[in-house]
Amino acid sequence: MKPPYLMTLDETATEVPRDKRVYFEVFGCQMNKLDSELMLESLSQSGYTLTHDVEDAGVIIYNTCSIREKAEERAYSRLGSFKKRKAQDPNLVIALTGCVAQHHESALLAKLPHVDMIVGTREFHRLSDMIAEVRSGAEPLVATELDSPLEFHRSQNMGPSSCQAYVSVMRGCDQVCSYCIVPTTRGKEVSRPPEVILEEIRRLAENGVREVTFLGQTVNSYGKRLGDGVGLHTLLYGVEDIAGIERVRFITSHPRYMRPKLIEAMATCEKACEYLHLPVQSGSSSMLARMKRTYDRDFFLKVTDRMRNRIANFAIATDFIVGFPGETDEEFEDSMSLACEVGFDHGYVFKYSPRPGTVSHRIADDVPEDVKKERNNALMNQIMDIAQVKNEAYVGSTLEILVEGPSKNDPTRFTGRTRNHRIVSFAADADEPIGQFLQVKVDRATGTSLWGSKVGCSTESPTIPKPRLDPAHDAS
Ligand code: SAH
Ligand code: SF4
Ligand code: F3S
Repeated sequence: MKPPYLMTLDETATEVPRDKRVYFEVFGCQMNKLDSELMLESLSQSGYTLTHDVEDAGVIIYNTCSIREKAEERAYSRLGSFKKRKAQDPNLVIALTGCVAQHHESALLAKLPHVDMIVGTREFHRLSDMIAEVRSGAEPLVATELDSPLEFHRSQNMGPSSCQAYVSVMRGCDQVCSYCIVPTTRGKEVSRPPEVILEEIRRLAENGVREVTFLGQTVNSYGKRLGDGVGLHTLLYGVEDIAGIERVRFITSHPRYMRPKLIEAMATCEKACEYLHLPVQSGSSSMLARMKRTYDRDFFLKVTDRMRNRIANFAIATDFIVGFPGETDEEFEDSMSLACEVGFDHGYVFKYSPRPGTVSHRIADDVPEDVKKERNNALMNQIMDIAQVKNEAYVGSTLEILVEGPSKNDPTRFTGRTRNHRIVSFAADADEPIGQFLQVKVDRATGTSLWGSKVGCSTESPTIPKPRLDPAHDAS
């Protein structure tokens, strides 16, 4: 997979010797994408540059994900394909980084003996030194401490587009969801100080970034050990004063931490987008208890109701897992009915995948694969049908979007997003500027996106004020 978000380092710097050209392959979540940016930035300080051609690379980095077995297997099989090349070119350095590295540590060297280094989720600032060590003849290296510093040098934004940036606000997870490997691969929750985060955002704004997305494994528990009442709301209010930034989002939130202070900040901050990714995992309270999610169906419904009552045009996306051990037909039906009741604007459905080292790995994975598949399809179809109806309601209206770049499938079109995260495709001029705010009239809708044509643009701040509900409607 060519990572489009690693895009600003000069690929055409042909004078850079092959030894210093790095190829990345990135799996997993936004945090892994951001970490890849930070790795590249730290390597660039030692003269490395990015190449999108693996044949042209002197260093190959696989930044991996452990969330489901398939993600892990894909990384192994792709890495395996470099065995022959490594034998012919001993100067080639192959690094396995990220969650798989953190999870399996040195055991990976037996499985993949042609890999030169295993670098965990908090040690990637050492990559450049480690590459030099390996090249000077060291044995394969392993760096998987989890208490390394959280601060990484950052002078530029490398994606998802030139006008959008990810900003890590916390790392790690203190939850104990029984199916999940993330607490093992990312360690305990640690929050960065607000002033450091806001300074980073100020610099990004000076470099043309208009939209930031705060990242954290449970991003809305941000601030837990910082004291002084610091929480995610502190950052939302802080960004209000940063010129140039027009939109703020955050992923991924845990329902338990969707507290009134945060909802109020989302409702009152002009820059906070009307969008939330709030994974529910199941609509069944008995299943949620077995998953150790710390809330039940009613709690989730109350939180989503409260947000929809407080904030107009509010969109909610979610994740479900189907086929968790012991999932009965009734429990699955509870997920189907919850999807209807909440009316998610978008959703992902995952088939349960047992992960060694998690609590549920010790329980038999007893839902047959064909049942998992059936449930996955049924729930996904349900979510898409609802999303389609919701999207169709926008046909005929004019929406403001932030232009993100050319459409992947059609060079004559560009795409952008509304504040509530709907993708809008429109017929573009050849030199359509990325990062501008456009008014687009919607003429067609599918379950995943809107289609339309532009009716106006403004390179200044958004012209449409944030929609507000009468506070009397506040259900909090
Ligand atoms: N921190 C986020 C989720 C991170 S993982 C949260 O707590 O919501 C992203 C998604 O992967 C999860 O929401 C879950 O739906 C899915 N997932 C995690 N572990 C899984 C497993 N063992 N099998 C299948 N899906 C899984
Ligand atoms: Fe995994 Fe649960 Fe933590 Fe999310 S909150 S990262 S699902 S343990
Ligand atoms: Fe995967 Fe690690 Fe992210 S397991 S989902 S890359 S935190």
